[in-house]
Amino acid sequence: MGRPSERKGYVYCLHFDRKLKHAQHYVGCTTDLRARLITHAQGRGAKIVKEAAAQGIEFVLAAVGECSVAAMRRLERQVKNWHGSGCFCSHCTPTPRAMPGTRSLPMSACRFPLDSATLRDLCPVPAPPTFRVTSDADSFKVLSAMKTLMQANKDCLGFIPVGGDGGLTLSILAGRVIVAESDGLIVGFLAWTENPDSVQIQQCVTADAWRRCGIGRGMVAELESLRPGKPLRCKVRDDLAANEFWRGIGFQLYEHTTHETSAAQLNSYRKEVF
Ligand SMILES: CC(C)(COP(=O)(O)OP(=O)(O)OC[C@H]1O[C@@H](n2cnc3c(N)ncnc32)[C@H](O)[C@@H]1OP(=O)(O)O)[C@@H](O)C(=O)NCCC(=O)NCCS
Ligand SMILES: [Zn+2]
Repeated sequence: MGRPSERKGYVYCLHFDRKLKHAQHYVGCTTDLRARLITHAQGRGAKIVKEAAAQGIEFVLAAVGECSVAAMRRLERQVKNWHGSGCFCSHCTPTPRAMPGTRSLPMSACRFPLDSATLRDLCPVPAPPTFRVTSDADSFKVLSAMKTLMQANKDCLGFIPVGGDGGLTLSILAGRVIVAESDGLIVGFLAWTENPDSVQIQQCVTADAWRRCGIGRGMVAELESLRPGKPLRCKVRDDLAANEFWRGIGFQLYEHTTHETSAAQLNSYRKEVF
C-alpha cells in the first residue's frame, strides 16, 4: 500500500455478510484506506455502513483499486453507477474484475486486517468531536493541523488564503477559524472572512477518516451560532463532491461563474438566515 507521500487514492468495495435491504456491497474512496476502514468498522462514516453496523452486519474488504487522488471521486461514482458490484468482489466471484479506471491491488497488499470485527478491535472509538473557535494560545498546533489538512486536500482547495502561513496565522489570531477536535486531535477546520453583510467561508475541510461523521455540518453550525442572522456564502469548483455537502446542509446555489485565471467552473452558494 502506497506511502502517504505518494498521494495515492483508493476506490474500495466492502462485502457485507448479510444483505442490508438489497445491498450486499458498499463502494467508497479514500486516501487513507486503513483509517477509513477503521471508521467504517466503528459504525461511523457513510450512512449505509453505519446502518449495517447498527444491525450487526459485519463487512470484509473485498476489492481495492489504486488511482490518482484527483480521479478517485469520479472513479468511485463510476463504480457506484455500475450495474452491480458483485463482479469486483473477491467474495462473490473467484475471478473479480478490476474496478474501471483503477489498478487492481491484491488483498495481500493490505498490511492490516480486512474484516470489520478485527478492525474494530484495533482502535477504541474516538470521542465525539467538539467544535470551537481557535485562540492565540494554541495557534501553532492549529496552524500545523491546518497545513496538514490543506496539503492532503490540495486538489480540492483552489482558494488558499492569501499570505501563506502568515495569512493563516492572522486568521487564527483574528478568531476566524473553527476547529473540530476529538481526543485532542484536530480532525477538521473551517476558515472564513466577513464584511458587515455576510460571512464568506474560505475553506472547510474534514480529515479523510472522519468524512460523513457530521464534522463539516457541525463546524458550519458553530459558525452560524457565532454570527446569528448573517447570511453565509461559499464558492466551490463545480467538479467537487463538496457541492453535495453544501446542498446537503441547506445551502442554495445562486451563481455559476468561471475563474479568471484557472478557467475553473465555480458554484456560489449561500445560506440565508430567516
Ligand atoms: C466537503 C467536506 C468538508 C464535507 O465534510 P464532512 O465532515 O464529511 O461532512 P458531513 O459529515 O458534515 O456531511 C453533512 C451532509 O453533507 C452531505 N455530504 C457530505 N459529503 C458528501 C459526499 N461526498 N457526497 C454526498 N453528500 C455529501 C450529506 O448530506 C451529509 O449528511 P449525511 O452524512 O447525514 O448524509 C469534506 O468532504 C472535505 O473535507 N472535502 C475536501 C475539501 C473540500 O472539498 N472542501 C470544500 C471546499 S472549501
Ligand atoms: Zn461480494
